[in-house]
Amino acid sequence: MSPLSPPSTAHTADLVVFGGTGDLSMRKLIPALYHADRDGRLSPETRVIAMSRGGLTDADFRGKVDAEVRAQVPVDDPAMWQRFLGRLHHVSLDVGSDDRSGWSALTKLLGGHEQRDRIFYLASPPMTFGPFCAELHEAGLITPQSRVVLEKPLGRDLASSQGINAQVGLYFDEHQIFRIDHYLGKETVQNLLVLRFANAFLEPIWNSLWIDHVQITAAETVGTPGRRGYYDHAGALRDMVQNHLLQLLTLVAMEPPARNDRESIRDEKVKVLQSLRPIVEASEVDRFTVRGQYTASGDMPSYLDEPASTPPNEASKRVETFTAIRAEIKNWRWAGVPFYLRTGKRLPYRRSEIVVQFKDVPHSIFPGGTPNRLVLRLQPEEGIELHIMAKEPGAGEVTLKPVPLRLSFGETFTTRVPEAYERLLTDVLAGNPTLFMRRDEVEAAWRWIDPILAAWEASAELPEPYPAGTTGPAGAHELVGRSGRTWHEEDQP
Ligand code: BG6
Repeated sequence: MSPLSPPSTAHTADLVVFGGTGDLSMRKLIPALYHADRDGRLSPETRVIAMSRGGLTDADFRGKVDAEVRAQVPVDDPAMWQRFLGRLHHVSLDVGSDDRSGWSALTKLLGGHEQRDRIFYLASPPMTFGPFCAELHEAGLITPQSRVVLEKPLGRDLASSQGINAQVGLYFDEHQIFRIDHYLGKETVQNLLVLRFANAFLEPIWNSLWIDHVQITAAETVGTPGRRGYYDHAGALRDMVQNHLLQLLTLVAMEPPARNDRESIRDEKVKVLQSLRPIVEASEVDRFTVRGQYTASGDMPSYLDEPASTPPNEASKRVETFTAIRAEIKNWRWAGVPFYLRTGKRLPYRRSEIVVQFKDVPHSIFPGGTPNRLVLRLQPEEGIELHIMAKEPGAGEVTLKPVPLRLSFGETFTTRVPEAYERLLTDVLAGNPTLFMRRDEVEAAWRWIDPILAAWEASAELPEPYPAGTTGPAGAHELVGRSGRTWHEEDQP
């Protein structure tokens, strides 16, 4: 259970997943639900109803899960696995046709269970969110105990995001809407809040007097094979920065909330987003942002040559697979402290981390010291490292060496670290929205992103090329280098 969550009451729920046989469902949601079941966090009567075009029966769907998911999860008790499969149902829905039989079948399946929590998980493209909610309303399926879960992308700019929020808002109250950002379910992300607000020593130095800058990186080795349809319209800024990286930034930068409740934390997060200095003028966008696209290297294809169902076009050439941004927060705590954000595909390593770089000692009596650094590693090997200076053992001259004080979650805690989706689904089932994005947060994030997108779209320049497997375009190194800084990996011992 999340340290931020109230104890799960394990209400009986009907969880209806639109896009229920899709990639997200089969790779993340179903395994997460199985883990929750195995840990006793699903009530005995809870059902999972997958909606898809598939034309599958319940038995077909259970067979598909047995074939595709069983190998991904630990099945130590075959009877328990069978019980889990028994929770699964499938309803075929022919979206866009006049055939109403799918909606009738869903109505029939849910009928008589109005007292249960009803969760509609929309793991389907965002243009379906409004229409699906309207259909659910028409069919009379939205009960007071209903919640709706929205997967990203929540629009492609502020206007489209507002459109989606308004449509969904016609049928669900804000407290019933759970907008997922799976980064918020990651263990280290929640530990960041505990580290900051359950320990006294950090708060006095968590500001511009002591912190030089912050780096937030989400580096991936994977490219975008088979994803051109989505990625050509997204790019790294929409896909990763607008949501995941800005969410991490808010948690680093927020003021201590008064309470650990559903609104207090989100109130503080939204204030951070509203304090971001807008990057609007083309000259500022050029100076504070970098975009890149990977080119072929070794056996890795270029972005344009990735296998895809559609050939690349002019728009594909303009898509950024890498971006780095220097952000600033205009408030008392953070004035003058740059927050460098960076994400990219086909980088040399998979690593998501937050690096808080402290300032140097005010007066050094030893030669060769380097300033302290706090590294919060989200993946791989979730953990926290505080780099401090120590004396290298030996007689004679004092020689300093940076050494990490390391907390590895894997080594310190023997309990299994749950996947982000598992935690978030548990919170949805418990009705706890703390780790989900509120409408004003999503819109504040788009408000900051929109001018950058507009300037990139208006620019005649294409993204800077970088060979696949390297740390991104030269511009990213210049972005931090201009103020004499380096990215974390460049000077790692
Ligand atoms: C998703 C993006 O939201 O996050 C993907 O759409 C990206 O492009 C993924 O690969 C990264 O998630 P994680 O948990 O592997 O860092």
